[in-house]
Amino acid sequence: LQVLSVASEVYPIVKTGGLADVAGALPGALKSADVSMKTLMPGYPGVMKTVGEGEIVCSFRDLLGVEADVRAVEVDGLELLVLCAPSLYDRDGGPYLTSYGYDYADNWLRFAALSLAGAKIAQGAIKGYRPDILHAHDWQAALAPVYLAFSRKKTVRTVLTIHNLAFQGNFPPTIFEKLGLPAKAFSIDGVEFFGNVGFLKGGIFASDRVTTVSPTYAREILTEEGGMGLGGLLRQRGDAVCGIVNGIDTKAWDPEHDAMLARTYDRSTIDRRATNRDALLKEMGLAPTDDPMIAIVSRLTWQKGLDVVAEVAEAIVEKGASLVVVGTGDAQIEGAFQKLSVDHRKKIGVRIAYDEGLSHRVQAGADAILIPSRFEPCGLTQLYGLRYGCIPMVSRVGGLADTVIDANYAARHAGCANGVIFEDAEPDSILTAVDRLIEIYRNPKEWRRMQEAAMANDVSWTTSAKLYADLYRDVMKDEGR
Ligand code: ADP
Ligand code: GLC
Repeated sequence: LQVLSVASEVYPIVKTGGLADVAGALPGALKSADVSMKTLMPGYPGVMKTVGEGEIVCSFRDLLGVEADVRAVEVDGLELLVLCAPSLYDRDGGPYLTSYGYDYADNWLRFAALSLAGAKIAQGAIKGYRPDILHAHDWQAALAPVYLAFSRKKTVRTVLTIHNLAFQGNFPPTIFEKLGLPAKAFSIDGVEFFGNVGFLKGGIFASDRVTTVSPTYAREILTEEGGMGLGGLLRQRGDAVCGIVNGIDTKAWDPEHDAMLARTYDRSTIDRRATNRDALLKEMGLAPTDDPMIAIVSRLTWQKGLDVVAEVAEAIVEKGASLVVVGTGDAQIEGAFQKLSVDHRKKIGVRIAYDEGLSHRVQAGADAILIPSRFEPCGLTQLYGLRYGCIPMVSRVGGLADTVIDANYAARHAGCANGVIFEDAEPDSILTAVDRLIEIYRNPKEWRRMQEAAMANDVSWTTSAKLYADLYRDVMKDEGR
C-alpha cells in the first residue's frame, strides 16, 4: 500500500510541536505493516539546507499562481517530497510565523499550495508514482482532500488527521476565488464555514476518514465545547471519525542510549537516574532536595493550562517540591515564570527557550512531568515521561486520560499505576495532585514500583502503526462517497 502523507512540519527536519514528531515517526513505523509512505512538505529555508538539492521529480508552472518544483530526497530513512516554492517558503521566521511572531499574511496561499500540490501528486503528477491514499495532517494540509473531492475524477482515498482542533485555518471569504476550487465548493458541503473559508472544515467534510490522535479526544470533539464550532459536522461524519493514540520515536527517546544524558539507564538501573537528577538541579541552578522535582516542557499557552501553574507555583514549592519550566509561548506566561524564578531562585528554575537537549535531560532527571492541559488531543511529553521513568501528572483530558494510569487505590495495589491524574486545570486540582505525588515519593519502594511500571509501558508506534495500516486497508474497501 502506498500512502502520500502531507504535513507542514516533519521531525527531524522542522518542528514546532507534536505534529512534527508524528509526521516524522509514522512512515518508519508503517514499514513493518507493509505500508510505504512518502511525505510532502514545504521547502522552508531550514529544510532546503538540511535536505540539499535532491532530484526534481515534477514541476508546477502555475500552482495557484506560483512556480514550484518538487524535489525527492531521503533523510534518515524518510522519503521526502519537498515543495520548493521560494516565493512562498523562502522566508526568515518560522514555518507559520514571521520573526516578529505574527502569522504570515498569505498563510492561506502557502498551505493551499501545499495541499494542491499534494492532490496533484496523488493524481499522478510524479511519473511512476501512484499512491493509493493521501493522508493529510491538520489544517495546513486539509485542502488536499478537498481538491481531490472536487476534482473531476477522484482516484485516491483520503484520510485527514486532526492534531489540534483549535487551529482551523479560517480565512476571509475573499480568498475563495483564488483557491481554484469550483464555485460550488463554497458551500456547507465544502469549505464554507460561517461565511468564511475553513480549511479544516473543508477537510473534515471531504475526507473519506477523519482521525484524531486519541480515542478520548475523538469523543471530546463531538461535544459542543470540545468541537470548537466543528462538533456538528464531526458528529455528522459518524463512524468515519476515530482516534488513534500517538506513539513516540523510541530510538530518539531511549534512556538506555541517549547521548544527551549525563548517565544512561534502563528499567533495571533506575538508580542511575540520580546522576541526571543532580545534573539537572545544577543546570537549572536549583538547591539539592529530597523532595520531588516537578518539570514542565511545553508550549506556554492557555491550552496547556500553564497560566494556572504560574498561579500556584508558590504554593507548590511551599509543599517542598522544586519546579523546572522549559518552554516558550505567551509573553504573559513566560513573564510570570521568569518572575517566579527570580523570587525563588533555588526552587524554581525557568528556561524560556526551545531546547531539544534540555528536554531530554529534563525527562531523565526530573521526578515528575506536569501536564495540566485544558484540552490535549494526545500529548507526547507524558509518553516521553513514561519512557524515562519521569512520572506524568496530567489532567483527565484527551490523550492524557488515555495513556496514563492514575495511582488510585486499585492501581497502586495492582502495581500498574504509572502517574497521577487530576480532574482539570484548576488550582485546587493541581495542588491536590502535588500532595498525592509527594506522598508516594516519600515511600521509595512504591515510587520505584511506579517508575518501573512507567518504563515498562509500550509507548512505541507498534500498536498504533498497525491501527493506521488497518484503517488504510479499510478505507480502500469503502465505496466512494
Ligand atoms: P503540542 O504539539 O501541543 O505542543 P505535544 O506534547 O504533542 O504538544 O508535543 C510537544 C513536543 O514539543 C514534544 O516533543 C516536546 O518535547 C516538544 N517541546 C515543547 N516545548 C519544548 C521546548 N521548550 N524545548 C524542547 N522541546 C519542546
Ligand atoms: C498537537 C496536539 C498534541 C498532539 C500533537 C501530535 O500539537 O496539541 O496533543 O500530541 O498534535 O499529534
